[in-house]
Amino acid sequence: MRSSAPLYDLLAPTYEEHFAVLHRRAYDELAWDICRDALPEAPAVTVDVGCGVGRWAERLLDAGYSLTGIEPAPAMADQAARRLARWPRTQATLLRSRVEDVELTPGSVDAVLAMGSLQYTDDPVRQVVRLAGWLRPGGVLAVLVDNLQALVLELLAAGREEEALARLTTRRGVWRVDEIEADLHLLDSATLRRAYDEAGLDVVRVSGLLVGASAHGRDGLRRRLDEDFEGTLAAEGRLAAQPELADLGKQLLIVGRRRSR
Ligand SMILES: C[S@@+](CC[C@H](N)C(=O)[O-])C[C@H]1O[C@@H](n2cnc3c(N)ncnc32)[C@H](O)[C@@H]1O
Repeated sequence: MRSSAPLYDLLAPTYEEHFAVLHRRAYDELAWDICRDALPEAPAVTVDVGCGVGRWAERLLDAGYSLTGIEPAPAMADQAARRLARWPRTQATLLRSRVEDVELTPGSVDAVLAMGSLQYTDDPVRQVVRLAGWLRPGGVLAVLVDNLQALVLELLAAGREEEALARLTTRRGVWRVDEIEADLHLLDSATLRRAYDEAGLDVVRVSGLLVGASAHGRDGLRRRLDEDFEGTLAAEGRLAAQPELADLGKQLLIVGRRRSR
């Protein structure tokens, strides 16, 4: 796996603008609504794995949670550090590290969120098991990843059958910005459900975010968001509530709770 750190360092100065683009804003708002409903009440101890420039970390801190952010890309972490400096160290901590290298006390955390980061780790299933170990019984793990099936459909629709089948077989993707490439795992709901079960987590929600991208194509969804952002977002929210559609979402969000024993 080629590390994603050089690519995220390149994106860091404009990463916030990245989420001003309507389709990213849409899946981000859907994910935030779902996660907020599942989180324990503040104050509670949260961990943001791959916190990037600190977008979600800031929301969680604003909502009264204490937070540890984990971020390996130096330029992303620099921005997160500036953001987190508004809170006392007792409430906000930043670990400049890959999640694979972080050790936290077992059972010490109320909620772990990993928004778009586990796909870049060497072994996402192993990381789900590790993160679950940090949770107290009843604690929440929320993981957002790019979805394998939705990408395959998109490639087929674009006439790129060979690449679609290669992605399906290897379950790996490549993200390229300018000349820089990063490798990522492509996951599906069955794999994540098995990982949650193995980790001792009861799945409470599996959602496909931006199912409209599979139905109307990426450009079709963009057009709809452009014409009526709120209406399209509400429709996507209804589709995201249907677990049967999870693998049609461009992004896949799974939320679970640690079993008592
Ligand atoms: C798609 S970005 C999402 C950032 C942030 N969660 C957000 O929603 O704004 C993925 C992040 O995961 C980080 N990441 C990549 N590999 C990681 C690893 N092994 N451990 C922890 N974070 C990682 C990247 O540096 C990047 O900041």
